[in-house]
Amino acid sequence: MQYQYINVEPLTASIGAVISGVNLGEDLSEPVMTEIHAAWLEHLVIFFREQHLSEQQHIALGQEFGELHIHPAAPYRHENPALMVVHTDADSHRNNGEVWHSDVSADEKPPKASILYLQTVPETGGDTIWANMYAAYEALSGPIQELLGSLSARHEADYSGFYGEHKPQRKNPHAEHPVIRTHPETGRKALFVNQGFTKRILGLSRDESSALLQFLFQHVKDPTFHCRFRWQEDSLAIWDNRCTQHLAVWDYFPNTRSGTRVTIQGDRPF
Ligand code: SIN
Repeated sequence: MQYQYINVEPLTASIGAVISGVNLGEDLSEPVMTEIHAAWLEHLVIFFREQHLSEQQHIALGQEFGELHIHPAAPYRHENPALMVVHTDADSHRNNGEVWHSDVSADEKPPKASILYLQTVPETGGDTIWANMYAAYEALSGPIQELLGSLSARHEADYSGFYGEHKPQRKNPHAEHPVIRTHPETGRKALFVNQGFTKRILGLSRDESSALLQFLFQHVKDPTFHCRFRWQEDSLAIWDNRCTQHLAVWDYFPNTRSGTRVTIQGDRPF
């Protein structure tokens, strides 16, 4: 695709692109947003550097993608549940997103997009890795694609003990979703099970479900599906949860990595 208003530099052949020539605090005109949206659908996760957004501008950027999603349990900034805190430091006993997952896939209508904006990053480490779930699906053989296409899986969240004193906004969600979903905007098929939330494939014995899920969780780790982003202060990432998974690497303890995430509501997967 040719872009007129933004520069798009792919990070790998499979997934990810760095966008430049845009000030997200100011340049949200219709033609620019149309190209950002197109680049996001084409590359699945897009990155911007040296952005200086207020909390209101971060929220406004999220609203360009749709209605905002509220995380079931994570703490938030300034009494605004749409501004999820992503923070790890020397007192943390866990890191947000340290297993492969698609954000809150245990919701009946899981988020379609997430926008993470980090203001504090460690000198080294703290990268995030994303995996392309179209590619993961397309790399499977025909008979396995056919089998998976007939199956659904149960996704469950259990945030107990995750967020210290912070009281959850709502109960731990759970939902049943197709193992292979069709992206509502591109029409492409994507693998939709993840290690963070998917507990059981329905209609199979416990052993069959466990063996198949283990195989799929391993399959997602193939580096040919991946890109890895090195954060800097004031970098921002927008990813599509309908066709990607990600993993936040916690290799910087006891240093601090901190920012906010605005998340956008999705549809029921089909
Ligand atoms: C998340 O899962 O939203 C966290 C990603 C990250 O911190 O890189």
